[in-house]
Amino acid sequence: MEQSFVSIKKFINEPYSKILGYPKANSRQLKSRISELEKLKIKSVLFAGQTTIGILQILGKGYVGVVVLAKKKNDIVALKIRRLDSQRSEMQSEAKLLRLANTVNVGPKLYDVSKNFLVMEYLEGDKIENWIHSLKGVGSSKKLKSVVRAILEDCYRLDQIGFDHGELSSISKHVIVGKSRSTLIDFESSSVNRRVSNVTSVTQAIFIGSGIAKKVQRIYKVPPKQKIIDFLRIYKQEQTQRSFDDVLKILKL
Ligand SMILES: Nc1ncnc2c1ncn2[C@@H]1O[C@H](COP(=O)(O)OP(=O)(O)O)[C@@H](O)[C@H]1O
Ligand SMILES: [Mg+2]
Repeated sequence: MEQSFVSIKKFINEPYSKILGYPKANSRQLKSRISELEKLKIKSVLFAGQTTIGILQILGKGYVGVVVLAKKKNDIVALKIRRLDSQRSEMQSEAKLLRLANTVNVGPKLYDVSKNFLVMEYLEGDKIENWIHSLKGVGSSKKLKSVVRAILEDCYRLDQIGFDHGELSSISKHVIVGKSRSTLIDFESSSVNRRVSNVTSVTQAIFIGSGIAKKVQRIYKVPPKQKIIDFLRIYKQEQTQRSFDDVLKILKL
């Protein structure tokens, strides 16, 4: 499909209105959202990405938002548009959590927020599961180790500030492996009020669970699951740099 920018003025009509007000919005809601976008200095949207809604390509879709590429002044950004049927009534809470994750260099950079939109850094890359499955040939093991290590370090920095991502057990939707940077996304279920389990959830998903773990074992020889679990247990209790380093070591990272 040809890629071109579409002015937000066109979003009052189909097929674009379906993106701006997913799954369905009336013209009053659409108009109000267009003026909200104008305030955020978002002038146009670029339809590209691996997901589609109708005939339009987008970056992705979850239960809270529809994410598209957009132009803010001259920069390309990712725009998360609140779904009308979302359980969340605004985007500011998620933005607050993303801002906090950003303080330890985790997640796409937050640029701006309003009631129905979150404007953030566009992370060009692949979801981790697809990325791992596409790994082949010489250097796979080195590449894999460096990406997994970077993700676990993100997790450790979040653990250190008492910030729990909340959805890392389904890791595939929440880690983007980019050309320049790999990081976590989607902080809408995050919390600073519960026990953190970022490092343990990601380690489990990558090394102990089913899908990804099988592929990882084919790329390099990881230690027996029980051994990993033992080191994770110690980390869970202590959450110190030393116990984290021991986890990295046992995983040969
Ligand atoms: N900053 C980003 N850069 C690139 N793609 C993104 C970005 N944020 C989200 N996406 C894509 O959009 C999808 C949905 O975003 P997400 O924040 O998970 O929405 P939800 O909170 O509704 O689950 C993601 O799975 C991902 O594919
Ligand atoms: Mg999500």
